[in-house]
Amino acid sequence: KRVVVLYGGRADEHSISCISTAGVLNAMDTERFEPIPIGITKDGKWIVGGEDPRGWNLDGGELPTVKITPETRPVLLDPSLGKDGFLVGEPGDLGSAGNGFDSNVVNTSDPETHHAVTSLGHVDAVLPVLHGPYGEDGTIQGLLEMMGVPYVGCGVFASAACMDKHFTKVVLSAAGIATAPGITVDARNFTASDVLAQIDEAQLTYPLFVKPSRAGSSFGVTKVEAADDRETQLDRLTAAIAAGGEHDWKVLIEQGIDGHEVECAVLCAKPGDEPEASWPGEIVLDHQDDDQFYDFDSKYMDASASHVEVPANLPVSVLEDVRDVARRAFKAVDGAGLSRVDTFVTPDGSVIINEINTMPGFTPISMYPKAWEATGVSYTELITRLIEGVLR
Ligand code: DAL
Ligand code: MG
Repeated sequence: KRVVVLYGGRADEHSISCISTAGVLNAMDTERFEPIPIGITKDGKWIVGGEDPRGWNLDGGELPTVKITPETRPVLLDPSLGKDGFLVGEPGDLGSAGNGFDSNVVNTSDPETHHAVTSLGHVDAVLPVLHGPYGEDGTIQGLLEMMGVPYVGCGVFASAACMDKHFTKVVLSAAGIATAPGITVDARNFTASDVLAQIDEAQLTYPLFVKPSRAGSSFGVTKVEAADDRETQLDRLTAAIAAGGEHDWKVLIEQGIDGHEVECAVLCAKPGDEPEASWPGEIVLDHQDDDQFYDFDSKYMDASASHVEVPANLPVSVLEDVRDVARRAFKAVDGAGLSRVDTFVTPDGSVIINEINTMPGFTPISMYPKAWEATGVSYTELITRLIEGVLR
């Protein structure tokens, strides 16, 4: 079976997607599947034949990116051709049409130029290993729906609802599932004193976490501590909202939750099946200091800063509660395929959802594959089940 693996993409999480893809391609059962990696550059150009993602890792210091080189061939989609609608141009054809094609080359009705575009052949499924906007937010899912190609993971609605942390709360609250108390502000248009008044009115306690509503991997997240005076507080909030606003105009201000950060991997490979939940795991920061949280650097740049523990060091009854809440949350958002449900477990044992990642990190140090391994599903089997679940 021929499986297109999409990686890179337009989001800030481009490089994380590249490293996740290395993990996926290295784990994929190639007796069963023929992977067809298609890279998407940061500015949205689709290519084949670039640098082999299987060599990418987190050890090199420099984060990988999808690049156009003389060897790469541009990819163009023709939804009307369905599963045969992945078209490729000539090597090095960077053209002038912006998508990598010279505009007159795409004229498939012209026999003179037709030869320049060939089909990649029949595609059985797509595995979009893309994180963040334009990958995890329903847009690529909509494109694949239009083409009629089966794809792994959540559909348009669940992807969109979970990419936007504001709307994740709206949907989960309606299902009676607890999320961190917070408010949403417009970073394009706010006054710090109004925001402070809203924080007081919502009775949010400090520290606060200020984060872009639609981003991932902790980009743009700031922890805001209580200040001794109002001016400092306003300054801190303004700076934090501006930092979040660099990634999304919609910014969330959430109350920090005291407790364990516990993540649960949900798998529902076949549409319509009951979702399964892994043993929940916990990220343990190895050099805990008070100001530190699990930010981008501790996630990806310094692998020794933290490690994953599955199951999390909590009583089994609490872990079972987390699994139950994770399954319910997955169903509440209309999840499909997979998601990692991130929770806080408070000292009194209540489970509060932080966020749902519909295409969780798949790097070698990532929780999703590690949690399944600890639950008895190997990385390779996981990928096999996810792909086979959508084949038709
Ligand atoms: N957004 C990153 C990739 C994650 O949730 O794992
Ligand atoms: Mg995320």
